[in-house]
Amino acid sequence: MEKIIMENRGHVLMIPYPAQGHINPCLQFLKRLVSKGLKTTLVTTKFLSKSINKPNLGHNIGLEFISDGFDNGGFAESDSIESYLQRLQTVGSADLTQRIKKLNSSPEVQNPVNCIIYDAFLPWALDVARQFGLVGGSFFTQPCAVNNIYYQFGKGLLKIDDSAVTNNINVKIPGLPIPLQVSDLPSFLCVPGAYPSYLELALNQFVNVGKADWIFINSFDMLEVQVVDWMTKTFSQLRTIGPTIPSMYLDKRIEDDNDYGLNLIKPDSSICINWLNSKANGTVVYVSFGSMAELSKEQMEELAMGLIGSNFYFLWVVRGSEAHKLSGKFLSEIENGNKGLVVKWSPQLEVLSHAAVGCFVTHCGWNSTLEALSLGVPMVGIPQWTDQTTNAKFIADEWRVGIRVKVNDDEKGIWTRKDLEVSIREVMEGDRGKEMKKNSSKWRQLAQQAVGIGGSSDRNLDEFVANLIC
Ligand code: UDX
Repeated sequence: MEKIIMENRGHVLMIPYPAQGHINPCLQFLKRLVSKGLKTTLVTTKFLSKSINKPNLGHNIGLEFISDGFDNGGFAESDSIESYLQRLQTVGSADLTQRIKKLNSSPEVQNPVNCIIYDAFLPWALDVARQFGLVGGSFFTQPCAVNNIYYQFGKGLLKIDDSAVTNNINVKIPGLPIPLQVSDLPSFLCVPGAYPSYLELALNQFVNVGKADWIFINSFDMLEVQVVDWMTKTFSQLRTIGPTIPSMYLDKRIEDDNDYGLNLIKPDSSICINWLNSKANGTVVYVSFGSMAELSKEQMEELAMGLIGSNFYFLWVVRGSEAHKLSGKFLSEIENGNKGLVVKWSPQLEVLSHAAVGCFVTHCGWNSTLEALSLGVPMVGIPQWTDQTTNAKFIADEWRVGIRVKVNDDEKGIWTRKDLEVSIREVMEGDRGKEMKKNSSKWRQLAQQAVGIGGSSDRNLDEFVANLIC
């Protein structure tokens, strides 16, 4: 194991968009920078500070809180995503400015902040960096393919009109290795007008990105070689640094690094692991839709009945806010048998790396996708929105580590319990499932190589650190 360098040589302050799926990769990125000798600070909101459950940030990562203008309720307290983003920018940037002044004048902080890395969803943080003359880096939490699609759409190079949507036409996007249908594009584009503010958020990632000193992508070169090459022609400062999976699962570089370290919901860890320990290898279907997706009551019922019908063991994460959608019939079925376990939050990395887990029914969030791919678990994709539709396409047709549940085009993307059962069986015991498992182990090895010493992502981090301290 590489020895952690204790000398502090630079201080990176990182500000993720305040949501679990953004905090996880940002925090892991900081842990890797710390292993290369930097001091770091993670900044999140005062509202989220109330939900943080026993943070385990490790050595040389400070935690600071700023206001998003909604200290009592966060996003839920705002009227709309527009008003949330606007307050986050005005209140957040003023508070961030004060925080940096304080940090840099504190006698306890040996290394003044000399770099801000900000979630690409918060491009205003580059102005804060510039105000202090600091290095500024934009961090994209979604895959390079998705970033390329948004970039081209924003530039007017990709046009999606109503007829393209109705006819679900094929679109060939420069830089992408496979053709996509309109329904494979991020949902903000393939349902035009449905999410205008979220589309604006996605497009705004590029508003000043050309001026950033660094552009970091949570992906790795071998996974997205063609699109990374393509985008680097436009953005020479673009570097892949992923997958940002805790080191214990990939290269064992950092001691005790077996989870991301900052849960906003307390995981039911021992319940999950004890239950999995009682099951034979490859017999359990793990199901999770991440931290934000909300299924309709009807789709929850199809999912519940599809899991029971598939007749495998299943471990299903149903967040507290979704639990009321579970039917009494389903709950009594699982109470009377030992086929299924429902929990509010799982230690997902431990679960995915458990030998009992044979497949992952997932919403295809980018972190979940990278985690399954890096831990060698084949997937059944049920994408819900944002980048998940595109991720599902790549999982099935480019990386070949999963399938997407068939949706009924006449019924606005609805899928049935039968569709789910067929997909689960195919991955758990079909010939395609065997092929996917083989492909998964290949990607696992490539992910390990990328973050291992001298791998593509590791070299990119070294380059950044060397530049920051020179
Ligand atoms: C969202 C988007 O869906 C995603 O595509 C985007 O790139 C980031 O923001 P989210 O929907 O929460 O994130 O999904 P995902 O990206 O998969 O992130 C969820 C994280 O929570 C993962 O790191 C996962 O390991 C963790 N998790 C999830 C748990 O620790 N326990 C659980 O029970 C469920």
